[in-house]
Amino acid sequence: MTPESPVPESLTGIGATALGVALLRAQESGRPDWLFDDPYARHFLQAVDPASTPWAAAGPSPATARLLRVMAEQVAVRTRFLDRALLAAAARECDQVVLLASGMDARAYRLTWPPGTTVFELDFADVLAFKAAVLDGRGAIPACRRVEVANDLRQDWPRALTESGFSPRRPAAWLAEGILYTLPPEAADLLLDRITAVSAPGSVLALDHAEDSELLRAARADSGRGWLATARLP
Ligand SMILES: C[S@@+](CC[C@H](N)C(=O)[O-])C[C@H]1O[C@@H](n2cnc3c(N)ncnc32)[C@H](O)[C@@H]1O
Repeated sequence: MTPESPVPESLTGIGATALGVALLRAQESGRPDWLFDDPYARHFLQAVDPASTPWAAAGPSPATARLLRVMAEQVAVRTRFLDRALLAAAARECDQVVLLASGMDARAYRLTWPPGTTVFELDFADVLAFKAAVLDGRGAIPACRRVEVANDLRQDWPRALTESGFSPRRPAAWLAEGILYTLPPEAADLLLDRITAVSAPGSVLALDHAEDSELLRAARADSGRGWLATARLP
């Protein structure tokens, strides 16, 4: 994978947000007083040609810069909080960890998991393929048993997950980060119902959520195309 690599189809659509989160994680990791260190995040950005991303087309605007600052803080705090929540669950009894809509989440590589932990990563096939190509190309080694589950959260993903080795009879730690507030309410309810249906007693769900609003949607739409233009890797 080279800087000239084309951006996969999914990463120019909804999956582009995964690169946006990677950008914010790379920035946080470069701060002297970071809340977490994600040494892999910058690799995803370096693997794409910024000119071919949807963000390159527009220049920065004050609204973009403002939203980016708020999002950077939100991603920094949530990442550290969710890191701790997942590790605490894994240390208790959850030897299965499921990262729903995993995007460029590098927790399988960067966290110190208890021996015997399996981390399932569920996202679109080409998002997972892009991620694997970048990390394999850098010689990254998972710190756990890592299993990719290429699926669509609108489909019967619990079945795909169990076919990949997940056991609904053992407690699991679930992560729904950066996804619930992007879904219509009924789709979010369905996602939570499906998680519940395959969760044994002792399971844990970690998530972030924000009430969506017209204001937030407008700010996102306005800023979506300016990310790489305004933000700088450390
Ligand atoms: C904002 S990113 C968050 C990624 C990751 N959870 C993180 O915090 O780094 C949203 C992710 O959701 C994935 N996604 C969106 N809709 C999906 C769907 N229907 N099925 C599977 N993945 C989906 C995208 O591909 C993208 O990777």
